[in-house]
Amino acid sequence: MMRTPILAGNWKMHKTSAEVRAFFKEFSQRTQSNWVRADIMFAVPYTLLAVAQEAADGMATIIAQNVHFEASGAYTGEISIDQLRDLGILGSLVGHSERRQYYGETDDTVAKKVTRLTDAGMLALACVGESRAERESNQTEAVVTRQIQSIFNAAKSIDRLVIAYEPVWAIGTGLTATDEQAQAVHKLIRGLAREHFGEGSAAKLRILYGGSAKPDNIAGLMQQPDIDGGLIGGASLKPIDFAAMIDNVTQ
Ligand code: PGA
Repeated sequence: MMRTPILAGNWKMHKTSAEVRAFFKEFSQRTQSNWVRADIMFAVPYTLLAVAQEAADGMATIIAQNVHFEASGAYTGEISIDQLRDLGILGSLVGHSERRQYYGETDDTVAKKVTRLTDAGMLALACVGESRAERESNQTEAVVTRQIQSIFNAAKSIDRLVIAYEPVWAIGTGLTATDEQAQAVHKLIRGLAREHFGEGSAAKLRILYGGSAKPDNIAGLMQQPDIDGGLIGGASLKPIDFAAMIDNVTQ
């Protein structure tokens, strides 16, 4: 089965409104007709959602980097699903490892967010991945299985769910998983999806790789049978790099 690849930029805590406008101006000049073969997304800071949505002008889908699982209430500093929808934003990253590491995100809060997003018909781009210590002590499979089972149990529908496998030791470090290391985990995840949702749904699930993906390593990763795109941090900040990655994925 042909799965449409996804290339998703994760801008983390970068850029101002002026920088976002400049980014999409240059990005539009680099757009190629073959890019229709991929779904292009950017996960941007809350304050930039509206400006990015406007500046992207249909070239890319803009999503949030986080969302709260409650509908509303006394949660200072948080943003709800309805508040995203109010801006025309229809998806969010969930459980990025930086949120798990620095902001107390757990399998439980990730699960609640996945439930609420998929129940609302919104895209949940849910992230999993092992730390360096976990890989070195041969726990990769156990950790990813635990994280994935929790996400699959929580999803109300698999149609609006996308998984990103991001080994924590590869994020922002310049160390990329080899094609084979990444494929092994992606295959594990698709196998779990098969057990949970059945063959047809598992074949449709898009599983992205993230962690120091760059223009020169994305093509090799994409050739692996269970890798369907990338979640890109550093290399998504400049139009020239991100455009090169889309070219490499869509040619
Ligand atoms: P990186 O980040 O591409 O800079 O390693 C990926 C991510 O954190 O999503």
